Amino acid sequence: MSDSVLKVTDLTKTFDQFTAVDQISFEIKKGEILGLLGVNGAGKTTAINMLLGLITPTSGRIDVFGKDLAHHRIELLNRSNFCSTYTSLPGNLYVWQNLRVFGTLYGVKNLKQRIDEVLTLLDMQHHKNSVSGHLSAGEATRLNLCKALLNQPELLLLDEPTASLDPDIADKVRGIIRQYRDDHQATILYTSHNMKDVEEVCDRVVFLHQGKIIYAGTPDQMVEHFEKENLEDVFIQIARSGDVLPA
Ligand SMILES: Nc1ncnc2c1ncn2[C@@H]1O[C@H](COP(=O)(O)OP(=O)(O)O)[C@@H](O)[C@H]1O
Ligand SMILES: [Mg+2]
Repeated sequence: MSDSVLKVTDLTKTFDQFTAVDQISFEIKKGEILGLLGVNGAGKTTAINMLLGLITPTSGRIDVFGKDLAHHRIELLNRSNFCSTYTSLPGNLYVWQNLRVFGTLYGVKNLKQRIDEVLTLLDMQHHKNSVSGHLSAGEATRLNLCKALLNQPELLLLDEPTASLDPDIADKVRGIIRQYRDDHQATILYTSHNMKDVEEVCDRVVFLHQGKIIYAGTPDQMVEHFEKENLEDVFIQIARSGDVLPA
C-alpha cells in the first residue's frame, strides 16, 4: 500500500468564468508537512475548501487515505481537522463550550481530559471560561488550533494558522505543529505567505500562482531553482512578475 495520505489529481474550481484553481495535482505522504504557498488570491483557500468538502470541485479528484473524498466524506473528515485564521468559532459560547460542542461532533473519547490537554498545549487554560467572542485575534486562532487538535487528526489542514499571531506565539505554534506531526506521524497541509513559517515548518512546498502550480519541491530546491538567497526573495519575484515560467 502506498503511504500517500492526500492525493489531488487535476483539481479545478471555476467560479462563473473565473478559474480559481486550475488543474492542480500533488500528493502528501504520511508524516509529511506540505506548504501550499502563493500570493493573495492564488487559490490556496479555494483548494483547502475543496479538500474539506465545503465546495465541490468543478473537475478533478481528491483521495484521502486511499479513498475518494466525494464518496467517503464523513468517514474521511472524521480522521481530519482544520484551522483557519479567517473562520471563528461561535462567539457567544465559552471557550470550553465550543470545545465540548466540536469534541462531541467528532466523538472524542475522554473529552474533558482532552479539552484540558489541548488548552494546556496552546497555553489557553486561563481562557477556559472566557467568552469566545471576547478573545483577541491571536487567542481566537489558538482556540481554533485547540479545536483542530481535539480529535487527534491524522490529516490536518491549516489555512494561514500563524497569520494573526505575534512573533513569540507564532514561534510557539510552529513548534507545536512540528511536535504534533512527530508525535502522531500526522500529515499536514499548511498554507502561509509567511516564508519564515514555511522554511521552519514545511518539508516540501507547492507554489500556486493564479490557480496553477508553478513549482513543487523542497524549500531549499526552490531557492536554488529561482537563484535567490531565500524563500522571501523567491516569493517577491513571483508576486511581482506576471510572467513566471512553470518549473
Ligand atoms: N465564492 C467565490 N466566488 C467567486 N470568486 C471566488 C470565490 N472564492 C474565491 N474566489 C476567487 O478565487 C481566487 C482565489 O481565492 P482564494 O482561494 O481565497 O485565494 P488565497 O487563499 O490564495 O488568497 C480569488 O481571485 C478569489 O477572489
Ligand atoms: Mg486564503
